[in-house]
Amino acid sequence: MKKLIAANWKMNGSLAANEALLGAIASGLPAELTCEVAVCIPAPYWAQFRLLAASMPSLASLALGAQDVSSHASGAFTGEVSATMLKDFACRYVIVGHSERRQYHGESDALVAAKAQQALAAGITPVVCVGETLAEREAGKTTEIVKRQLAAVIHANGHCISEIVVAYEPVWAIGTGKTASPQEAQAVHAVLRAQLTAASAHADRVKIIYGGSMNGSNAASLLAQPDIDGGLIGGASLKATEFLTIVSAASI
Ligand code: 13P
Repeated sequence: MKKLIAANWKMNGSLAANEALLGAIASGLPAELTCEVAVCIPAPYWAQFRLLAASMPSLASLALGAQDVSSHASGAFTGEVSATMLKDFACRYVIVGHSERRQYHGESDALVAAKAQQALAAGITPVVCVGETLAEREAGKTTEIVKRQLAAVIHANGHCISEIVVAYEPVWAIGTGKTASPQEAQAVHAVLRAQLTAASAHADRVKIIYGGSMNGSNAASLLAQPDIDGGLIGGASLKATEFLTIVSAASI
């Protein structure tokens, strides 16, 4: 299976900064990509991405992604962005249930599952984030937490669960410079793979990617693990050379 390297810019960027960053990425990408690359950028810049991709052929090989989507189809939900709006900009991916949304916006497992459902209904691949906090890890609850988070999405989307991407993002590794060791990450990915296998005959198609301080130096060893099918990159995705190093580590 091709690896997936997805940038999560979070709430960073500007018209000028995006043009510089995407230009640097475009000029450093290999002519033939052997992994999938996606950029999950803030919604106001999707149109800019489309314009830039029209003039830079190598950018056109990148998939566009969103960082969140409404759990509703349309209507009186001020500030929300629907899956069909994502579709209008040809977003291929949308991150749902990122720990920052769970933590700062009180998103529950059920809400995350409903968001995944909206994405799937619009033909967009949800990148479902799961992960434990440091306190939960220290209490020996990692498996229980990630299984509970994924179970809600499986429960609501059972018939098309092989169409999702799962991102394991230990909360204690996000933006901290502390990465899960390849073995620690692999152990959790194996748990998630087993859970998907029990739910679907096509679980082997599901990419399970890792996120949490992945960078140019640690990407290769993480991506070498049997159940790590890619990365969801925060800070390092804002630096073209770091991001390109991760892409080349995934391109073997
Ligand atoms: P960092 O790579 O900055 O740790 O962020 C990871 C992340 O949250 C990606 O979604």
